[in-house]
Amino acid sequence: MKIPILDLKRQYQSIKSEIDSAIARVIESGQFILGPEVEAFEREVAQYLGVKHAIGVASGTDALWLALKAAGVGPGDRVIVPSFTFFATAGAVCNVGATPVFADVDPRTFNLDPSSVQNLLESDTQLQDQAKAIIPVHLYGQPAEMDALLKIARQYELIVIEDAAQAIGAQYKDRAVGTLGHLGCFSFFPTKNLGAYGDGGLVVTNDDALAERARMLRVHGSKPKYYHHIVGTNSRLDALQAAILRVKLTHLDEWTRARQKLAAQYDQALSQIEGLAVPYKAPDRTHIYHQYTIRVLGRDALQQHLKEHGIGTEIYYPLPLHLQPCFGHLGYREGQLPESERASQEVLSLPMFPELTEMEQKYIIETVENFVRVYR
Ligand SMILES: Cc1ncc(COP(=O)(O)O)c(C=O)c1O
Repeated sequence: MKIPILDLKRQYQSIKSEIDSAIARVIESGQFILGPEVEAFEREVAQYLGVKHAIGVASGTDALWLALKAAGVGPGDRVIVPSFTFFATAGAVCNVGATPVFADVDPRTFNLDPSSVQNLLESDTQLQDQAKAIIPVHLYGQPAEMDALLKIARQYELIVIEDAAQAIGAQYKDRAVGTLGHLGCFSFFPTKNLGAYGDGGLVVTNDDALAERARMLRVHGSKPKYYHHIVGTNSRLDALQAAILRVKLTHLDEWTRARQKLAAQYDQALSQIEGLAVPYKAPDRTHIYHQYTIRVLGRDALQQHLKEHGIGTEIYYPLPLHLQPCFGHLGYREGQLPESERASQEVLSLPMFPELTEMEQKYIIETVENFVRVYR
């Protein structure tokens, strides 16, 4: 049997007629950039998330860059981010001219650890002066510890930009992630739970002034056209992607439930295995399982074993950001953020997508169990 970590072709087959007619509608309209299709998607996704403003942009990376810019973060500012995340979280900080400050993660959830953030700020008066924002990431689809992080942000007057790229629809205390801080950022990269057929992203906020700035920044800072108030960029969601996303949004909750069911089945079978931890579910929030990520000793050998049996897996992420070569000048050392470093050695994401069949999942579970029996 061959089982990829994700199979987008199966999803397309299940919604083919809806997608094909949405694409035809846009092509026939002749309007490809922004316009009514993007506006309709922005309204629908804002309603889905329960937020006042949703601004469609070119990617999740751009959403972070635009949110930072809209919030006025720039040269001389420092921004606290987790070390264990996708590169874009910190890359966007550098690309507005600010400096990332890496904090450690909670070993159970892999999300930003509030006590690590508190310790950084308490022990460094210069950081207290220079820190302008914090970016919690809702990694793998599970909300970060938002109450504690928002409290620290209030204490030190930090702007909170949520990186919700992997967590659309996940809730923290009955509110959608992305809507809890000042600004929220989403990615519609094709592999995401709500994925476009190309790049796409979204900035959300309840703040009218921040929304206005983000809207201007995505069209070179202009309003109206050709009158430029600030220097922005070209970062727009295109109409084809918006039309595709409108179709997919109506299926998102049903896909999330399928992911949660698969996760519960994985949990039940794999939690019996010694030396392997299934994803921890923190209280007061929902996990939408963008990834089903286990923590396991002998991770690389297990990955190889699964590969030999036709099963695709991924390591998100093999090197924490504070040890990346491009951040060498910031002076971080190995051992400084131990939980991020340990996570990067032990995590493994298993196949997870709504169309994964019971038979396939059974085979994956048996193959993991076999590995444990033979090699341990
Ligand atoms: C946590 C996180 N932040 C940011 C991004 C960037 O999104 P994009 O790939 O759409 O630029 C991604 C996705 O790739 C992500 O997983």
